[in-house]
Amino acid sequence: MSVEGVGVTAVAVAAARALESDRPDPLVVDPWAAVLVRASGVAVPFPERWPDRPEDAPAVEHSMLLGAMYIGMRTRFIDDELLAGGLRQVAILGSGLDTRSWRLAWPGGTRVFELDSPGVIDFVERTMDAAAATPTADRTALGADVTAPWAASIVRSGFRPDQPTHWVLEGLLPYLSAHDQSALLDDVLALSAPGSRAVIERAPALTDTPETRERLETFALATGIPFDELLARTDPPDPAAVLRAAGWAVEETGVEDLERRYDRPLRVARDESAGSEQRGGFVTAYLADGV
Ligand SMILES: C[S@@+](CC[C@H](N)C(=O)[O-])C[C@H]1O[C@@H](n2cnc3c(N)ncnc32)[C@H](O)[C@@H]1O
Repeated sequence: MSVEGVGVTAVAVAAARALESDRPDPLVVDPWAAVLVRASGVAVPFPERWPDRPEDAPAVEHSMLLGAMYIGMRTRFIDDELLAGGLRQVAILGSGLDTRSWRLAWPGGTRVFELDSPGVIDFVERTMDAAAATPTADRTALGADVTAPWAASIVRSGFRPDQPTHWVLEGLLPYLSAHDQSALLDDVLALSAPGSRAVIERAPALTDTPETRERLETFALATGIPFDELLARTDPPDPAAVLRAAGWAVEETGVEDLERRYDRPLRVARDESAGSEQRGGFVTAYLADGV
C-alpha cells in the first residue's frame, strides 16, 4: 500500500467526502471517494452511511459527522470558485485523493495539474485507472514535495507560467512549518501570470505561547507527531497579507460565512459547537492584468 504517513490524512478527507455524498442533501457528490478509501486499506473511523437521525448517533461519532459536514462545505466552496473562475489552467497542491479532475464539468481545454507525494499520486492513478474513470479535464499528476524545489518539475510536466492559473491549496498549509508555508506562497506568486486566481485554506492561527506549547506537547504525545514539528507550525504567515502585498485583490471567507452560505450550522446536537473558530477559513484572490 502506498498511502502512508501524511497521506493517511488524505484518506480521512476522502472518507468525509464519501459520507457527505451519502447525505440526503449533499453539497457535493463524489462517486469515487468511497472507492479510494476502500482501496487504500486504511482504517478510518468514519461511518460509511449518513445516519437517519444524526443527533441520535453515538457521541463518539459526532466529531466524524461534523468533520464530514465541514469537508462538504469546503469542497463545494472550492468547486464553485474553480467553476466560476473559468480558468483553463488549474494547479491543486497537496491534491491527496481529490477527484475534481474526474468530477467537475470543466470548460473544454482545461488542464488540471495535481501535485502530492509520489506515493499518493501513484495510488490515485492506479485506483482511478482500475475504476475505469474518465477525466473531465486534461490531467497531469506530479509526485513532488512542496517543501523542496518543485517549480521546475511542474513546468517540465507542461505547466505554463505565462498562462493564468487557478491555484488550490486545500488542507495543505496546516501540515507545513511556518517557514515552508511562506516559501510555498512565494513559489505560487512566482508562477502566477496576470489573471491568476487562488483559493487557499489557511492554517489556524496559532501563536507560540507557553499555553500553546503545553497543548502541543499533549497533542504530540497523542499523535506521535514530533513536538518540534508542531512548534514550527506556529505563527504561520497570513496568505491574505502575502497576496495583498504582491498586488492581488483578496477576499477572506470564514467558516461561519460558509455555514450561512450553505445554511449548514456546524453542529449535530442542538447544544453542540464544532469549534469553527479553530479552523483557519479561506483566502480567495485574483491578480488583475497589468499588476
Ligand atoms: C489533509 S490532506 C488534503 C488532501 C486534499 N487537498 C483534499 O482536501 O482532499 C493533505 C495532503 O497534503 C499532502 N502533503 C502534505 N505535505 C506535503 C508536501 N510537503 N508535499 C506535497 N504534498 C504534501 C499530503 O500527502 C496529503 O495528501
